[in-house]
Amino acid sequence: MPGGGNGGDQAAIGKVPDAIGPVAAVTLAAVRAAGAHLFQEPAMQYRRLGSSGLQLSALSFGAWVTFGSQIARGEARNLIAAAWDNGVNFFDNAEVYAQGRAEQVMGDVIADLRLPRDGYCVSSKVFFGAVEAPNPLQRGLSRKHVHDACHAALKRLRVDYLDLYYCHRPDPDAPIAETVQAMDVLIRQGKVLYWGTSEWSAAQIAEAVAFARGNGLHAPSMEQPQYNLLHRTRVEQEYAPLYADAGLGTTIWSPLASGLLTGKYNDGIVAGSRLAQPSLGWLQSAVLGEPADARLDKVRRFTALAAELGESPAQLAIAWCLRNRHVSSVILGASRVAQLEENLRALEVFERLGEDAWGRLEAAFD
Ligand SMILES: NC(=O)c1ccc[n+]([C@@H]2O[C@H](COP(=O)([O-])OP(=O)(O)OC[C@H]3O[C@@H](n4cnc5c(N)ncnc54)[C@H](OP(=O)(O)O)[C@@H]3O)[C@@H](O)[C@H]2O)c1
Repeated sequence: MPGGGNGGDQAAIGKVPDAIGPVAAVTLAAVRAAGAHLFQEPAMQYRRLGSSGLQLSALSFGAWVTFGSQIARGEARNLIAAAWDNGVNFFDNAEVYAQGRAEQVMGDVIADLRLPRDGYCVSSKVFFGAVEAPNPLQRGLSRKHVHDACHAALKRLRVDYLDLYYCHRPDPDAPIAETVQAMDVLIRQGKVLYWGTSEWSAAQIAEAVAFARGNGLHAPSMEQPQYNLLHRTRVEQEYAPLYADAGLGTTIWSPLASGLLTGKYNDGIVAGSRLAQPSLGWLQSAVLGEPADARLDKVRRFTALAAELGESPAQLAIAWCLRNRHVSSVILGASRVAQLEENLRALEVFERLGEDAWGRLEAAFD
């Protein structure tokens, strides 16, 4: 268990039933007494966030779509507990996820589980706003919104500082210099430890780094890009100079392309799944692509190869992300614990599979 100490009562955790009550202090000793099988040694790996000294779990866990909307609080609690029990030490969030409710649920269940604050990292992201129709002050990367959004996230997540704070997208209406200064102030105030970007171009990141370095300010430490077998150019090519030059780390999102790479959509949209959600019509076309069959054909080839190799497609796809040494952490998503537990075992596939199998995998996507 990361940072859990030597079994101190602080480290209250476990897949305890929700019926135990939302604010019950469940001690490690009590959960052990309830069933030692709940405790397995985590086989997690930890990676440095770029050139920083922060060691994140190679597999982390995020709240997009699920927390505060698709799933109930009890399931969210079980997911955080399962992630923590398996060595996950980074939980990802954003102001925009369910308009702040994802952060509220995450803050609530982390407090409920009594995770030790020095043993986990939590993030937020600023840009899109946390209200239905944000006015120009309630979104973007101006000094004002960066400041306001940070303080709102701290309250929702019930923490004194954010470990990682991202600019969720570039803002054409805010000078990069102003955003860098705003982030630097938050770091100097102790409200943020590491700041970074999400889906910025390499040129925009390089501009932020140059401005920070030229003015003695904290430079961005990380980028949060999409990275998976179907979407790899930016991470592998566009950002390539930044890993050495800027010491950039990456915490990558949608390793399964919203579930597509599990093969669950090979024969159509599955009821109850992410792409079946009425509010996510835009995501369905983004994930399936235009035309859908070209992407699906690749996925069908991939799932056939996974079957031949005797591997779960989800684990294989996540393990593939781990092979890129510039990936600091793969942010997993899951709507239920069984999915998360399956996906966490990607580490075993990463360690087990030989170069021959990886070569065949690359060929399937040529
Ligand atoms: N910075 C950004 O712009 C950005 C954008 C997106 C995400 N993110 C972050 O990255 C995290 C992960 O992204 P993601 O949720 O898109 O990851 P993902 O792994 O690509 O998709 C996760 C979804 O796939 C389905 N799934 C996962 N494992 C499965 C399994 N073993 N079998 C069948 N279905 C499975 C589940 O959806 P269903 O069960 O509902 O089908 C699950 O919610 C997010 O939570 C968020 O923190 C960041």
